[in-house]
Amino acid sequence: MSPRLTKWERVLPERPDRPEGVNTSHPMRAVVEQIASSPQGWTPERSAKVRDLFDSMAEDWAERNGPDRTEALAEVLERLALPGRRCLEVGCGTGSVLGILADRFDAVVGLDLAMGMLQRADCGGVSLIQGDAGRLPFADGSFDLIVAVNAFLFPAEYKRVLAPSGNLVFVSTNGDRTPIYLSPERVAEALGEEFSGVSAESGNGVWSCFSRHPFWEEAEGA
Ligand SMILES: C[S@@+](CC[C@H](N)C(=O)[O-])C[C@H]1O[C@@H](n2cnc3c(N)ncnc32)[C@H](O)[C@@H]1O
Repeated sequence: MSPRLTKWERVLPERPDRPEGVNTSHPMRAVVEQIASSPQGWTPERSAKVRDLFDSMAEDWAERNGPDRTEALAEVLERLALPGRRCLEVGCGTGSVLGILADRFDAVVGLDLAMGMLQRADCGGVSLIQGDAGRLPFADGSFDLIVAVNAFLFPAEYKRVLAPSGNLVFVSTNGDRTPIYLSPERVAEALGEEFSGVSAESGNGVWSCFSRHPFWEEAEGA
């Protein structure tokens, strides 16, 4: 059986002022693909290099925050009414979506590799942890929801720390122009056939949600 992915209709229109496209040869494209393909794609050297890169961008990262950073995630949370209490955001950066996660979930953890990012995070009561999403410092089945916004996909680790009925939400806030980008089809493939997914374009971005138990098939649009 091949991985299942259902596409839902767009609700939020693209913005007329959508930023110009990202060159698909952006160096992050190769990195995100290698990591999704194999845990061997994430070496200690690469981890240190990525950490240093994002530390160097941390000072003005929050200036990039705007509606296009949050609208696709807000839409998937609303449309799917995602269940659960315990939520982990991997690669949370300066915390652009931690507030909307904290509004919906009882226990939210933001994790990032780069301390410079976390030091500037607006966390509003959320727990922040410096750590590596490729080696998550959590027990198996710890979270009902994992959120990755413009962040790397580490399939084995995310599957390990998700509860059996948990969900993974993967958002690219500038769609296929996002430097750290995987298509919903590629995320589905990397997660494997035990997961089913749903995705939609949303504003300037695209979201997808994956689960071993796709409860949304009972809901709108399926
Ligand atoms: C493109 S930024 C996105 C930040 C934030 N999600 C946003 O959309 O504004 C990618 C983030 O992932 C973090 N990151 C990269 N590799 C990581 C890893 N292995 N574990 C945890 N965080 C990581 C970076 O430090 C950076 O903050």
